[in-house]
Amino acid sequence: MSIEVAVIPAAGRGTRMRPATRVVPKALLSVVDRPAVQYGVEEAARAGAKEAIVVVDLDTGHLISQHFTIEGPLPGLEDIRIRPAVQEEPLGLGHAVFEAREMVGDRPFLCILSDNIVRPGHDVLPALADGSEDGSVSVMCLREYGDEFLDKYGFVIPASDVEGGYLDLAGSIEKPGKDRAPSNLGLVGRYVFTPEIFSILEKTPPGALDEIQLTDGINQLGERGRLRGYVSDTDLLDVGTPAGLLKATVELGLHQFGSDFKDFLDGLVGE
Ligand code: G1P
Repeated sequence: MSIEVAVIPAAGRGTRMRPATRVVPKALLSVVDRPAVQYGVEEAARAGAKEAIVVVDLDTGHLISQHFTIEGPLPGLEDIRIRPAVQEEPLGLGHAVFEAREMVGDRPFLCILSDNIVRPGHDVLPALADGSEDGSVSVMCLREYGDEFLDKYGFVIPASDVEGGYLDLAGSIEKPGKDRAPSNLGLVGRYVFTPEIFSILEKTPPGALDEIQLTDGINQLGERGRLRGYVSDTDLLDVGTPAGLLKATVELGLHQFGSDFKDFLDGLVGE
C-alpha cells in the first residue's frame, strides 16, 4: 500500500555545517543542483505520498517554503501538496515530528530525515509501507553498523529473528555507545509511524543530548509491542557534515553527469 502523508523534519540549524549555515538553513544547502530537503520531498512523492509536511524553524523556515512555491511547483512535484509546520524552538527531533501532529491527524505517515539522501534506485519507503499492515504498525528502516557508529545513531532491541527482511522490535536507544548498545542494527532515518507516536512524543521527556528524542518515542512503541524493523543493505548519504555533503555531491554528481565528471575526477587524482 502507499501512505498518503510524509513528515520531513528540516528545522535543524546545522551547527556542524557552520559557517555555511549562518544564514542559509541546513536543509537548503545544495547537493549537485537541488537542496537536500528537495530530495526528501521527491522520495516521498515516488513512494506515492500526496502530501509532504516539512517541519521548518521559525527564523529561516519561510525560505524553505519559498523554495517549493516561488516559481510554481517544481518539475515532478506537481502532484504533491507541500506544507510547512513550524517548530518554534529547537527541542529535538522528537519534538520536530510532534509539531506535525495537527496536520497529520489520525493517519499513518512516512517520516524522512532530510539529512540523509537515498541513493538513486535504492528507495526503502515502499518496503516499510509494505511491512506496516496497511499503516497499522510502525516500521523502522535499519542497517547493520560497525561499533564506531554506536554513539552516533539510534540502535534497536530485536525481539525476533529477521524473516523476509522484517523483524519485531522491543525498543530502541539513542546514541547508546558500546556499553549500552542493544544490537548493531541502527536507525537510518526512514520510518513509517502510526499516529500513536504523537501521544507518546507529547509525554516524552528530553533524553540524549538533552533533546526530545524520536528514538525514545520509538522505544515506547516497542514496549507496547507495536514496532517492526526492516533491515536494508544500503546506506544513505549523510549530508549533515561537511565531509558527508562533499561525498554525497561527488557520488550524485557522478550519477548525474556520468563520464564527463568521472574523467574530471580521474584527472584530479592522477589516474
Ligand atoms: C538522528 C536520529 C538517530 C538516527 C539518525 C540517522 O540522529 O536521532 O536515531 O539513527 O538520525 O541519521 P542525528 O543524525 O540527528 O544525530
